[in-house]
Amino acid sequence: MNATGSMGLAVAVRPCCRLIAAQILPRCPHQHGRRIAALPFFPRCSRGRRHFSRCPCPLPPRRSAAAWVRAAVAPARDGAAVSDPRRLSTSVGPGPVPGGDKDFGRIFVQGLAAVKPLVIDSGEQPPAVEGEKAKKEAVEEEEEDRSEVAKARLQSESEKEAWRLLKNAVVTYCGSPVGTLAAIDPAVELLNYDQVFIRDFVPSALAFLLKGEMEIVRNFLLHTLHLQSWEKTVDCYSPGQGLMPASFKVRSVAQGSNGEVEEFLDPDFGESAIGRVAPVDSGGHLIKISGVVCFLIEVVLGMGLIVTIGRVSNSCLSLAGLWWIILLRAYGKISGDYALQERIDVQTGIKLILNLCLSDGFDMFPTLLVTDGSCMIDRRMGIHGHPLEIQALFYCALRCSREMIVASDGSKNVLRAINNRLSALSFHIREYYWADMKKVNEIYRYKTEEYSQDAINKFNIYPEQIPGWLVDWIPEKGGYFIGNLQPAHMDFRFFSLGNLWAIISSLATPKQAEGILDLIEDKWDDLVGNMPLKICYPALENEEWRITTGSDPKNTPWSYHNGGSWPTLLWQFTLACIKMGRPESARKAIAIAENHLSNDRWPEYYDTPTGRFIGKQSRLYQTWTIAGFLASKLLLENPELASILTFEEDLELLEGCACSLAKSPRIKCSRRAAKSHIFV
Ligand code: GLC
Repeated sequence: MNATGSMGLAVAVRPCCRLIAAQILPRCPHQHGRRIAALPFFPRCSRGRRHFSRCPCPLPPRRSAAAWVRAAVAPARDGAAVSDPRRLSTSVGPGPVPGGDKDFGRIFVQGLAAVKPLVIDSGEQPPAVEGEKAKKEAVEEEEEDRSEVAKARLQSESEKEAWRLLKNAVVTYCGSPVGTLAAIDPAVELLNYDQVFIRDFVPSALAFLLKGEMEIVRNFLLHTLHLQSWEKTVDCYSPGQGLMPASFKVRSVAQGSNGEVEEFLDPDFGESAIGRVAPVDSGGHLIKISGVVCFLIEVVLGMGLIVTIGRVSNSCLSLAGLWWIILLRAYGKISGDYALQERIDVQTGIKLILNLCLSDGFDMFPTLLVTDGSCMIDRRMGIHGHPLEIQALFYCALRCSREMIVASDGSKNVLRAINNRLSALSFHIREYYWADMKKVNEIYRYKTEEYSQDAINKFNIYPEQIPGWLVDWIPEKGGYFIGNLQPAHMDFRFFSLGNLWAIISSLATPKQAEGILDLIEDKWDDLVGNMPLKICYPALENEEWRITTGSDPKNTPWSYHNGGSWPTLLWQFTLACIKMGRPESARKAIAIAENHLSNDRWPEYYDTPTGRFIGKQSRLYQTWTIAGFLASKLLLENPELASILTFEEDLELLEGCACSLAKSPRIKCSRRAAKSHIFV
């Protein structure tokens, strides 16, 4: 799709004009019987009564945690476990397609019923005689149940309290759980902390999934998908239909005089957010289409059909529901409910996100260009451009999508585009964002103003940019990805979330991933100290703080986003450590957190260079602190379950990039070439 853009778009779902969306989408589905019946995707209350309080949706029966643990490596529905996740997900070969077909905007999702279940990690059991198999399973089950009891006995007081608080934070909609509040701090004004944040919910979701509670995650995934359609405006500007919200709230409105209440979901796309920041990691601008086209969709949906509509010629801003996609894959892998990701509306949702996310723009880099404050750091902190955090989540979301998109004629272009982008993105980040002793020394000796294809200093970085703190800080062993890269600009700050997700998603090479953990070990006092983990290091101070943050009193040096310590980063650190076979580091960090969190009433963040004080304006009883702690504990107990979020190195992707770098005949494109060209 291009800027003047016309695009054939087959939309299976997603009514989105003001009239329609405002009336039908956010409300309790069963209140709109006839209309909603046309939409096959809503989790519907089975009893068609009018008011929420009178029509609780029956919850599906719960499975035991042990049973869910087994389901984490559940075989595909046809029993054909696929050991290589790439087999199904890279049906279109990697490698750039010069001037290739970028029209992956045509989204057809056809013949889903006939589609084979999606990728499953190797969970294959050796064939066994039925009777023996049943006996073995019974014994295993008993053992698992016993170890469950043992684990339950071992649950610390902090864990028990954390579970109680997490459950207390659950929000229901039409009687079903749909998310968790960001914080329940009775002492301070909640502002928007009484909402369900997409990114904040991820650790809650993980804790629930690991505990065997799937329903809340499923509901969350579906409801947030449908909130993409909500109408939103910032003053006189309507930023685009389809944006996934940063957060939402369940509101109740009294109906009539008999005390009945009606519930609806009220999303916040950034139009009320402090600073009006766009939540790139949680959602993104998807598509902007006219009311007429939307009306057509509604009519067509009413007939239960999928059609190609429109030649849509609006500017489309594109950024993705990165966390949403990542969570969708994790949910599928642990629950075995692959049917959810195969649903037409969900497939269409993924493709629409990607369609716009991968569209051509003015940019010369494969990284996503975003504004300041578009991720976990949602205030001005000088991270506009190509911040690492967004790139790592983008890479991970692309890999998740590649696994989940059902291969068909209609999806081959988007799969090809994903592969191309993955190759280019991993090359770019591995090569240009990496900083270690050797690289910093190289930069120190850079020549500038090189005009040629073969320039060494491609981004014209002036060596004077190497900050004083880095000269002493960079360890002999290990390294990290810098925070941001632009022409003549390297942000050398260490950002934890981006580095951890680079490990988790295999955006980093195995060597780089080891290097990042080495650096964290080496700089333990700076990055972990009294509370894991620093959101970034070091803090901006003095004039730099004044200019970069706009004198933000919340982001003063070593507070909040500016070098504060965020316990919610713990679960991501745990994942990275487990993936790299170094769980002892995570255990050490969790023990530090466990010493303080409950006593300190589960703060959102800590201040000071070593994280000694509870943050100045920190909320207490912050849900993602609580959930992050629980998820970390559960991951350590069940390290094999880390695979619902992690990825392994994919040499095929590197092959694609090696081919284009080699500028030589196809024969040179091999894994060996990839290894030699790309920093493995
Ligand atoms: C703060 C954080 C943001 C989080 C929100 C709700 O604004 O910066 O990342 O999502 O609080 O907890």
